[in-house]
Amino acid sequence: MKFQVPRGTRDILPGEVERWQRLETRTHQTMAIYGYREVRTPIFEATELFVRSVGEATDIVRKELYTFEDRKGRSLTLRPEGTAPLVRAYIENAPVRAEIPARLYYMGPMFRYERPQAGRYRQFWQIGAELLGSAKPEADAEMIDLFRSILWDVGLKDVTVLLNSLGDSVCRPRYREAIRDYFTAHKEQLCGDCKERLDTNPLRILDCKVPSCAPVIAGAPNVLDSLCDPCAEHFGAVKRALDGLGIRHEAAPRLVRGLDYYTRTVFEIQVAGLGAQNAVGGGGRYDQLVKEFGGPDTPAIGFSIGMERLLLATVSSAAGTAFAPDACVVALEADAAIEAQELARRLRGQHEAPEDREPLRVVVDVAGRSANAQMKWASKTGARWAVFVPKGSDGYAVRDMALGKDEARQATQEGLRRWLLERRDRVEAQR
Ligand code: HAM
Repeated sequence: MKFQVPRGTRDILPGEVERWQRLETRTHQTMAIYGYREVRTPIFEATELFVRSVGEATDIVRKELYTFEDRKGRSLTLRPEGTAPLVRAYIENAPVRAEIPARLYYMGPMFRYERPQAGRYRQFWQIGAELLGSAKPEADAEMIDLFRSILWDVGLKDVTVLLNSLGDSVCRPRYREAIRDYFTAHKEQLCGDCKERLDTNPLRILDCKVPSCAPVIAGAPNVLDSLCDPCAEHFGAVKRALDGLGIRHEAAPRLVRGLDYYTRTVFEIQVAGLGAQNAVGGGGRYDQLVKEFGGPDTPAIGFSIGMERLLLATVSSAAGTAFAPDACVVALEADAAIEAQELARRLRGQHEAPEDREPLRVVVDVAGRSANAQMKWASKTGARWAVFVPKGSDGYAVRDMALGKDEARQATQEGLRRWLLERRDRVEAQR
């Protein structure tokens, strides 16, 4: 029997995984610089958590959840996004709430039963940040600045922030009615899905990509004209704050996003080179969600970035580096295998003198190869140096594989380790 990776999922293999690791490392650094701390929530949650937050009428809840019953008949769902789980954890854990505002982030896989295509998968990874406890426009600006900073880190500097406001509990219901009336009057021109949305989720019609809906959508009332004074003021202040930070933005009155918890600010960042799936990430305010989940009244804002999309967009700007060891240990005699392993461990030096330098990457044959075969293998690994388990007491021989040159023998293991570290520094400095 032959198995294949499930549809819409993928293996991330050596050669590519280094780019992921680099993105992860940089993201952890950036989050720390901005004062955000990581939260790791479970991969699955009670189904109701997503129904109540993402929204019963959304595509995510209606069509895309991976839901199952456990052995006791509880309905659980693989998380389709990270905001609802994070809010649950925030309410459940007082220490996380102690800091106001709380600056939190997460990184991990999400699951949506979508039609797979480039940049769209059934298991995909998100980086997400959430700021809970501030209703101020400065919080909105910090979020968007952090988002942009993560993109800058990976070389994506030419980005457009699309900005909109969906209003609050005062002005949104009015807008919803206006939209519903407008689209009801043009019902015949709408696609089947949008006819359904008229009853369940009329705002989502604005986001429909079916070409026949486009002319009707173009004539729909503009949400930005219908904001109440406080929402309009907030929106204006966010725009001014972004101007102040030198972040380019564009008003996008048709941007409604696919999740129901948003209030006021919503945003998406688009980057070139992603084709149809050009949103690398998005987010917005959700001032009611914490309260709706039974927590204290806590305005909040956040975003998520799709990691596959981010990496797709940077493919040309940062090539992956394959893993190459610094040194291969070669045992010239068959019975020296354990000695070779011991030497490799000493050269890695990990548990000895701690230092700032990156430890040497050292590999050793564990496949019982002959001395000749070990030499061939050593050159295939891309290691710069081959080091040899000594015969008798003549010290440690080293060969520079790149130059094909034998180097001076080193008397001790520690001497050999230091020599390799110094040589590596020199080679790196010349690069
Ligand atoms: P979202 O727009 O549903 O928002 O997802 C954010 C990003 O995740 C998308 O822009 C995209 O890059 C990536 N993404 C979504 N679905 C897929 C997929 N099937 N395959 C690959 N990538 C995908 C949220 O999830 C909200 N939780 C964002 C947020 C945080 N709002 C407030 N805080």
